[in-house]
Amino acid sequence: MTIFPITFGTPEYDESVALRNEVLRKPLGLEFSPEQLAQEWSDIHLAGFNNAGKMVAILILTPADEHTVKMRQVAIAPTLQGQGLGAKLVQTSEHLARSHNFRHMVLHARETAVPFYLKLGYQIVGEPFEEVTIPHAKMEKAL
Ligand SMILES: CC(C)(COP(=O)(O)OP(=O)(O)OC[C@H]1O[C@@H](n2cnc3c(N)ncnc32)[C@H](O)[C@@H]1OP(=O)(O)O)[C@@H](O)C(=O)NCCC(=O)NCCS
Repeated sequence: MTIFPITFGTPEYDESVALRNEVLRKPLGLEFSPEQLAQEWSDIHLAGFNNAGKMVAILILTPADEHTVKMRQVAIAPTLQGQGLGAKLVQTSEHLARSHNFRHMVLHARETAVPFYLKLGYQIVGEPFEEVTIPHAKMEKAL
């Protein structure tokens, strides 16, 4: 998998929204609203592509303050999950965040994905809560 940033509003961005819909929204019976997507213009969008040039992984970084960035929308194509792509994408995003001088990563992990982030050095902060109809945990890591 080759990982590089993509730009909001491009065909690659549309491909990333389709992947996010497939992996993160349709299974919950939800979809993105135009208003939600319009807010993503200033985010950092990091995508992974297979040898055929098809997008198979996506992750978004949203700056929260000078030192803190939020990781969102981490999704690996269903047939490729469990092969190390998610770990590679998260680690690449951490290096990218550091290069932008961020020192603190935060995220809202689905309960089912908490073990994945624990393995990557993230810690649970506070109590579980509900988001997009399912249980989540707030997690963080010093970069
Ligand atoms: C969660 C997700 C991003 C993980 O990516 P992945 O490519 O499947 O995970 P990896 O193969 O890189 O796994 C890295 C390690 O975490 C473990 N892991 C990954 N997902 C896990 C899970 N759901 N439960 C327990 N362990 C998990 C792997 O076993 C692996 O462990 P190892 O290093 O001991 O071999 C991916 O499965 C996915 O897109 N899931 C559906 C969407 C989702 O839940 N996104 C996260 C929203 S917060």
